[in-house]
Amino acid sequence: MSLDVVLGLQWGDEGKGKIVDVMAESYPVIARFQGGPNAGHSIHFGKTDFVLHSVPAGVFRKGTTNIIGNGVVLDPVIFKKECEDIESLGIPVKDRLVIAKRAHLIVPTHSLLDAASEKALGKSKIGSTLKGIGPAYSDKIGRNGLRVGDILTGEFMEKFNALKAKHTAILKQYGLDTDISEKEAEWMKAVDYLRGFNIVDGEYLVNDLLRANKRILAEGAQGSMLDVDFGSYPFVTSSSTACAGACTGLGAAPTRIGKVIGIFKAYCTRVGSGPFPTELDDETGEELRERGYEFGATTGRPRRTGWLDLVALRYAIMISGVTELVMMKSDVLDSFDTIKVATGYMVNGVESDHVPFDVNADVKPVYKEFKGWKRNISICRKEEDLPYEFMMYVKFIEEFTGVPIKIFSLGPDRDQTIVREA
Ligand code: IMO
Ligand code: MG
Repeated sequence: MSLDVVLGLQWGDEGKGKIVDVMAESYPVIARFQGGPNAGHSIHFGKTDFVLHSVPAGVFRKGTTNIIGNGVVLDPVIFKKECEDIESLGIPVKDRLVIAKRAHLIVPTHSLLDAASEKALGKSKIGSTLKGIGPAYSDKIGRNGLRVGDILTGEFMEKFNALKAKHTAILKQYGLDTDISEKEAEWMKAVDYLRGFNIVDGEYLVNDLLRANKRILAEGAQGSMLDVDFGSYPFVTSSSTACAGACTGLGAAPTRIGKVIGIFKAYCTRVGSGPFPTELDDETGEELRERGYEFGATTGRPRRTGWLDLVALRYAIMISGVTELVMMKSDVLDSFDTIKVATGYMVNGVESDHVPFDVNADVKPVYKEFKGWKRNISICRKEEDLPYEFMMYVKFIEEFTGVPIKIFSLGPDRDQTIVREA
């Protein structure tokens, strides 16, 4: 059996949580493969709203196995709080969750380093969520990291202290001499809690499940435009958010990849710094933020908003080999007379259909305009109920990208989802 991958194709916050929760009905196994608690995957069911940071969004479905893969960085303190919150809803999280030994740990000094680095950058800061993601992945790649499997060995404290000493020395260079004893005690308690989970060789588990013909859904975090290689570097996150990340982050071979499901919002948002060609710094942008409730699920920051960027979307589709699309939050556009999409860029005065290398390039979008549908589509439950103008918008996106849109999401609830017939 193959591994299907769900990816955000923009700058994160595309609605991956909702779609994975909906799709988990037909996947017995859901796996996170990269990122960490910088992610905020919102799920809304009945009267419950829940934001997941580290736990895969299949956890609310009975009978699922949820895997935190080796490519993830895990903060035990945030993880403990999240699991306790899930448990308080009556969900047996320990029975539904498995953690890869090779996943790396975020230690308390990682978030201090994140904050110190951002402060030193001043105006050119990345706008990080300050969860310690960059420093934790730096330690992983620099071969200093601490892994989940280490907590089960006798050398754990020795390794932890060596890493702490390294961090303390760097923090001193930043002029910081913070007392972390309280944070460290809380972290050690959370590590104890983590020991109570099923911690395994994730790569063997994933391949055993594939051999046993189990369908696995890999749940991406962040988005393609935040990818460490293909995003607007350095205004990116520190992991591979594209499809290839699912292979390295789970131990699954590229030949195992089945469907690549790309999620995008009917418009664009970005939180944090960095280029955003279609950004609207005006009343229209404000209307998108208000109607879409565009405030960060992890940090509460207001998100930057703008029109759909098809140049960036097509780029993300190319990098990951996306086979089908899911369009989220389409209902947010209900109120607009005119809707725009970027089909090209003017880069330093020259027309281009490529995402530029230089984050300082002067990029102005070339727009195509569409007539708005001006109807409440959040109540539509069948494709036939959707307005003509909406379907024209959809058709254009499909033609421009060459990929079919298989699902329309028209609101946060599970039933505000139209799955199109093939
Ligand atoms: P989900 O999974 C939106 C952004 C941050 C910042 C940059 C680097 O909910 O879509 P980091 O904390 O990784 O050092 O921040 O990446 N960012 C996200 N933006 N959604 C996310 O995750 C994000 N995770 C990181 O705002 O600009
Ligand atoms: Mg988010």
